[in-house]
Amino acid sequence: MPSTYDVACTLGLEEVVAEELRELGVTAPRTRRGGVLFEGTPAQGYAANLWLRSAVRVTEHLIDAQVRSDEELYELCRGMPWENWMSVEQTLAVDGSVRDAAVTHSGYVALRVKDAIVDRFRDLFGDRPSVDTKKPDLPLKLVWHRDRALVSRDLSGASLHKRGWRPVQVKSPLNEATAAGLLRLANWQVDQPLVDPLCGSGTILIEAAQRAADIAPGLNRRFAFENWPDTQHDVWDTLRADARERVKSSIDVQLAGADRHNGAIAMARQSAQAAGVAGMIGFQHCELSEYAPGFVPDQVVTNPPWGQRIGEGEDLEDTWRELGNFLKRTLKGGRAWVLSGDKELTRHLRMKADRRCPVKTGPIDCRLLGYEVRGRSGASAWGKAPSE
Ligand SMILES: C[S@@+](CC[C@H](N)C(=O)[O-])C[C@H]1O[C@@H](n2cnc3c(N)ncnc32)[C@H](O)[C@@H]1O
Repeated sequence: MPSTYDVACTLGLEEVVAEELRELGVTAPRTRRGGVLFEGTPAQGYAANLWLRSAVRVTEHLIDAQVRSDEELYELCRGMPWENWMSVEQTLAVDGSVRDAAVTHSGYVALRVKDAIVDRFRDLFGDRPSVDTKKPDLPLKLVWHRDRALVSRDLSGASLHKRGWRPVQVKSPLNEATAAGLLRLANWQVDQPLVDPLCGSGTILIEAAQRAADIAPGLNRRFAFENWPDTQHDVWDTLRADARERVKSSIDVQLAGADRHNGAIAMARQSAQAAGVAGMIGFQHCELSEYAPGFVPDQVVTNPPWGQRIGEGEDLEDTWRELGNFLKRTLKGGRAWVLSGDKELTRHLRMKADRRCPVKTGPIDCRLLGYEVRGRSGASAWGKAPSE
């Protein structure tokens, strides 16, 4: 029986997640703001967790019904076969949100759903499961909007951007899923030499290397669904075994990056090792003004510093001006993609973007700006030189 799955992602990445889903064999994914819905089998739900690079969470709808009061919600939930979805020894948590509904307190309605579930278990088995809000076996989400209540179970558990290769969580707002999404927005292909001259802890390059090496982003982490009674373990084991088979030990494409921060480069190397892509990326500790990747990239995808998140005393305008110089001297006809959260700073590149893709990174509305960079002869790597 197919279920409805809802894949959450960063605002701006809905189309790329839909494209990733189509590549997994999902037919007719439907985008919504901040996510993509699809009808699929359990195997597709597991595969979405294992393979989606640009998404942060996969949930499955369990209840989607009209509800007019909290009592109706309670009865509806009590009537569902929760014993198929968890055992009495396991833990659950319900996260609730309400909007324009009969009840206004989200904590209260979440409690009603939890009560309905534990009451059902008590009736059936004389015992009840416990609540664990931190790491529940069955994470549930209730969204009650007007007269429609939607209860879903979260297959992912920890956010999908947590691949398990980052040694510590860094301050940068660019998480792994967003970095993978930027590469998709940039239409980077796995055989195109790629450079990130301001690579920090290397997120963009590590994501690129994992894609080139066909390493499933979820290969080395756990998911909430792995402990559920109705999980088809033979199907899941086969999916994971196939993913292991697909991993390449080397890649044919050149990937390189640099940063002036020694600690960031050390972390990038450590992360690359943990991500199974050590030796596939050339990391260098140097100033942008001195950086020469040693090959001509087809693409530059980068996330320069802006705003509050960078260290003291950095001259942002100089860095952006220097980035413009770097692109002009390094990209001999190719494309540059620069993530910007600050229009004023972007001017210092002294280049004119021909693409602007809105992407939200953390709380900030950003743009991924696309530039065609002419080669010395004036020819672009993409055919005709731009007219201006
Ligand atoms: C927003 S962070 C990039 C974060 C990165 N995407 C990551 O995965 O961690 C920008 C980086 O630019 C580096 N940077 C700023 N100005 C630089 C310069 N003039 N030369 C080299 N690196 C510079 C900073 O050290 C910082 O790591």
